[in-house]
Amino acid sequence: MSVSIKSEREIKLMKEAGRLLAITHDELSRALKPGMSTWEIDHLGEEIIRSFGCVPNFLHYNGYPASICVSVNDEVVHGIPSKKRIIQEGDIVSLDAGLIYKGYHSDAARTHAIGEISPEAAKLIQVTKESFFEGIKFAKAGNHLHDISAAIQKYAESFGYGVVRDLVGHGIGTHLHEDPEIPNFKVKGRGIKLRPGMTLAIEPMITAGGYDVEWLDDGWTVVTVDGSLAAHYENTVLITEGEPEILTIQKIQLNE
Ligand code: MF3
Ligand code: CO
Repeated sequence: MSVSIKSEREIKLMKEAGRLLAITHDELSRALKPGMSTWEIDHLGEEIIRSFGCVPNFLHYNGYPASICVSVNDEVVHGIPSKKRIIQEGDIVSLDAGLIYKGYHSDAARTHAIGEISPEAAKLIQVTKESFFEGIKFAKAGNHLHDISAAIQKYAESFGYGVVRDLVGHGIGTHLHEDPEIPNFKVKGRGIKLRPGMTLAIEPMITAGGYDVEWLDDGWTVVTVDGSLAAHYENTVLITEGEPEILTIQKIQLNE
């Protein structure tokens, strides 16, 4: 296993890939409305990505047929957009998107509420996002990878939630999926030691019930076995000498 350390030049490109993906997510979140099909969401996402001169990296990845993964309610990840699937008030919708900028990949996911949702669903979305931020408190040079994993798990499980075991985060760079694998739960060993210049896609996938998932017959869509709701939150993160940099969240521009 080899984990790539990005050079200054590569980090610049990763940052731009991340920045453009952050904008993509923000535009998608503003467009989401009850009555939209998941196909429309994918179509819009692809348009935004291409408007930057970038390429959607999920499209045709291992045969995946779309640019944006749209996963509704008990769908955890990798939902396939469809003209027949209409999102409705009360749904929770996870959008996972990625793009390639000058050969460098970014990857990020958000779970959105459609209109008014149940307090239970809102809590799940919130805790999933918070678990990511608990995890990256440990995303520092010198720490071990599984310090991040353990923090995510501990936080999510403290709410009684399930932490999905069958899917994990990953390194990212000139490929969408690079070493190392980044579980959201504790495994044996401490994982690699984090070093400045590593770029990681950290992506808790959390359910309101058990952690078991299964694949639908389409070969892609991952759903919870018990039918419980699921949420996903992901960012591409740069390990530095100090605090980690989240590359896929827009920075506020002051006085510009
Ligand atoms: N963010 C997803 C992941 O890391 C990428 C989806 S792969 C695709 O697994 F094939 F579904 F596009
Ligand atoms: Co990912």
